[in-house]
Amino acid sequence: MSGPNTNYDPVQVTPLDADHVEAAVAAALAEFSAASTLAELKTARLAHAGDKSPIAMANREIGALPPQARRDAGRRIGQARSRIAQALATREAEIAETELARRLVEERVDVTLPVHLAPEGAIHPITALMDQMMDVFVAMGWEVAEGPELEAEWLNFDALNFIPDHPARTMQDTLFVGQPDSGQVLRTHTSPVQARALLSRELPVYVVCPGKAYRADEYDATHLPVFHQIEGLVVDRGITLADLRGTLDHFAQAMFGRTRTRMRPNYFPFTEPSAEVDLQCFVCQGASVGHPDRPCRTCKSEGWIEWGGCGVVNPRVLQACGVDTDLYSGFAFGMGVERTLMFRNDAEDMRDMIEGDVRYSRALTGLAR
Ligand code: DAH
Repeated sequence: MSGPNTNYDPVQVTPLDADHVEAAVAAALAEFSAASTLAELKTARLAHAGDKSPIAMANREIGALPPQARRDAGRRIGQARSRIAQALATREAEIAETELARRLVEERVDVTLPVHLAPEGAIHPITALMDQMMDVFVAMGWEVAEGPELEAEWLNFDALNFIPDHPARTMQDTLFVGQPDSGQVLRTHTSPVQARALLSRELPVYVVCPGKAYRADEYDATHLPVFHQIEGLVVDRGITLADLRGTLDHFAQAMFGRTRTRMRPNYFPFTEPSAEVDLQCFVCQGASVGHPDRPCRTCKSEGWIEWGGCGVVNPRVLQACGVDTDLYSGFAFGMGVERTLMFRNDAEDMRDMIEGDVRYSRALTGLAR
């Protein structure tokens, strides 16, 4: 059994003597100033100001001292702790400031740089106009039907009741593909989609058919060899010319506001009776007619604008597509989209529409993107 520890002098506890305390403070200050990041400073803080730091350990010895020695040691430790705490706070502030300065440099953004370097495009006015036209019909529950641009001659002509020697079938008007007897043409109108819709859909049919058409035409201010049409077809029980009339008036008003339509007799092989549909001028409402002092650019002071073709679907077309004409009848119409854009937007030359100048598209589409 060991005897009492006679070496222990409660007044002379080594960790509490002035040199030791000073050394602990000096070590702490040295490590704090060596730390260059907040993470390094945290490690140094735990080592020199944490629960297991030399100063904390020394602090625990104080209780065993007699009163006078306890007071001295307490003051020494207290001063040491506050020097350490102050040095820590100072260094922390310095590091935070340096780190902020570094981040400000690294993350600097040049707000004067242009934002969009790539030029933006625009929706082509023909596309925008076709969308707008389709919306009128989709809102009434019609469906959009499409067909191929390379079309069977039979669907482009025969199914639509064009007689074999109809002038539209000549090379003068129609672009044949391959040998003249290939039976394939670039469709000359969107009307073959009518036949396709009837052959592939259940009755009743309510469809609107937008798309490109091709003709061996001149390329000038009012003709393009490649252009767009929008076609409508309804086949249902009890459909009459009156339904066509009401539909065209609604279409016209939805597109142009205050206007109405009129029909002028005409001939198309696939409709009987057939008509041209005119639009009452939606700018002057006819007020310019006979008033040279008040000319109207839109209708050239004629009061009416030619818009497209229409009619009651010829029963021969319905029969070619297997529709029972005792039960069903229908109407159809077709309009040129480029032509519509011309009078709607005062576009004078169709050739501008295929130039691909984005400024033209922006101006006519009203900056739609
Ligand atoms: N397909 C005709 C054309 O290109 C336009 C047309 C006229 C379409 C009368 C129709 C219609 O659906 O009923 O000139």
